[in-house]
Amino acid sequence: MIICNCNAISDREFSKVAQNGAGSIKGCFSVLGAKPNCGRCFTSVTKIIENARPQYEQDRSFEARKTKVSVA
Ligand code: FES
Repeated sequence: MIICNCNAISDREFSKVAQNGAGSIKGCFSVLGAKPNCGRCFTSVTKIIENARPQYEQDRSFEARKTKVSVA
């Protein structure tokens, strides 16, 4: 579903970049190569970022453990 009508960006696109570490509205737009315009999507984007953060933290933690194991 399109969340940002100004840039035709979907919830899936925002979710994907947020899960890959974009932790702010500005960061998400930047990674997607877009610029925020009217701001009407900001509440939805913020919720998507908040929902994606636990997954990002879990993935990052897993990567850190994997690195420790491979270094040892
Ligand atoms: S709807 Fe996203 S900036 Fe306008």
